[in-house]
Amino acid sequence: MSFEPRSIPIDPDAKAALAAKGLDYRLIDPADLDALDGWIDADHRGFHHARPRDPGRAYDRAVMAERRVHGVYDDAVPEPRVPVATVSSWPTGLSVPGGRSLDGWAVSSVTVSPTHRRRGIARALMEAELATAKRAGAAVAMLTATEATIYGRFGYAPAAKAVTVEVDRRRAHWVGPEAPGRVHYVEPATLRDQAPAISRRAVARTPGEIDRWPGVLDRMLGLVDPDSDASRALRALRYDDEHGQPQGFATFRVTREPNRPGWVEFDVLAAATDDAERALWRVLVEQDFVTGVRGLLRSTDEPLEWLLEDPRAVTVSEVTDHLWVRVVDPAAALGARRYGAAGELVLEIDDPLGYAAGRYTLLASADGRAVVHSPRPDGDGDDGAPKRERSRARSADAESVPSRGARAAARAAEPRSIRLDVRDLASIYLGGVRPSVLARAGRVVEASPGALQLADRMFASPRTPHLSIWF
Ligand SMILES: CC(C)(COP(=O)(O)OP(=O)(O)OC[C@H]1O[C@@H](n2cnc3c(N)ncnc32)[C@H](O)[C@@H]1OP(=O)(O)O)[C@@H](O)C(=O)NCCC(=O)NCCS
Repeated sequence: MSFEPRSIPIDPDAKAALAAKGLDYRLIDPADLDALDGWIDADHRGFHHARPRDPGRAYDRAVMAERRVHGVYDDAVPEPRVPVATVSSWPTGLSVPGGRSLDGWAVSSVTVSPTHRRRGIARALMEAELATAKRAGAAVAMLTATEATIYGRFGYAPAAKAVTVEVDRRRAHWVGPEAPGRVHYVEPATLRDQAPAISRRAVARTPGEIDRWPGVLDRMLGLVDPDSDASRALRALRYDDEHGQPQGFATFRVTREPNRPGWVEFDVLAAATDDAERALWRVLVEQDFVTGVRGLLRSTDEPLEWLLEDPRAVTVSEVTDHLWVRVVDPAAALGARRYGAAGELVLEIDDPLGYAAGRYTLLASADGRAVVHSPRPDGDGDDGAPKRERSRARSADAESVPSRGARAAARAAEPRSIRLDVRDLASIYLGGVRPSVLARAGRVVEASPGALQLADRMFASPRTPHLSIWF
């Protein structure tokens, strides 16, 4: 999905809804630096950050030049060049189980000035983003959220978690295998050429990760403001495999007070291979003169505790709903991922905003690939699944779940189905939660016997979804 994100016209419904409140909803031309700077000021204010100054402002300008940037303006305020609300968005890939990249629409910088809150401005912006995502051909919209109570009403739901992992240095005795390659200290800037390719491979093998844009790599490597204290404190490690090929990198800081051991803190560990992941973790946890290691935005499924003699050296805290997904095109989304089991499953999806509502038949074969059939426009109830695909999926399903006689015949006549809301679809989509857990919570409904068990097996992901950046 590569195209100029500003080529899609401004959403007319949001324009009209905000005009009715005396507000002007505008798509900003990044070449108009005065307008862009006003927007950047509003974004910083909205997130309670300090006023931006160079080189941070130059960085923001460069990042926003690649995005679709909207502001909402109120001529009645004393500084009308600063919008009273902001949002930015861009097309980006989302890794899904099986290693493919799904066309997604990232939404960020959602702010509304406290002087204009609770007048429906965020609603107008968020609904416009969904309409734009759909027009752009995205299968899902996605975001990371400051608060967990804002976005469910627009159909978003948590799809991949992140946690803080802490390791007690005194108890961190490594018992994992030796990696065949080597870890080297490198200057962060020297990683700039290798980071995109390593990150691409690390992202591809982790459902829930999104494509890295150039600016985020600069930020990870402390290159936005290299002379700042934070950048100068940054250390970088690179893992080269036994052939000398770079396969992973990490950046970290050691925070410390005079004469006291510090803490190793990191939020970047990008590994294209398991060897790289293990080797980088090892160097991070085996530093001397530190109390411990704190990894931010790590996976709920880190292998670390299995690599240390004392698994209790590792503690996990701050489990957060990190990636929020909103499905706008269920057929494209469901068809892109690979499934953990063969079978035929009907998803009856409810979506108050309409995008995903309908009955979708998922026919997964033993290799994990799936064909999705969505409702016919004439609404005759036939999902249109070709008989050949249906019988292939059913026989694979029957092989894995022994069934006989009447039950098998009944299943053959009527595919198993579950009913769920579009938010529940988002939560099960990457395999972050089992459909049966959502059924226990009274959210997903098993509409025919055996459907939940089948759904659990089909939606299982071989790798736990995880997103390791904010966007
Ligand atoms: C969150 C924020 C964007 C909401 O803007 P807003 O214009 O006041 O929101 P709206 O008036 O359009 O409200 C839309 C709905 O969301 C609800 N809502 C808005 N902010 C909410 C919050 N912080 N928590 C829970 N619900 C919230 C409203 O009650 C309303 O519900 P309803 O439509 O069901 O009645 C705004 O408070 C803000 O800028 N916060 C600081 C920055 C931030 O946290 N941004 C989110 C980035 S992920």
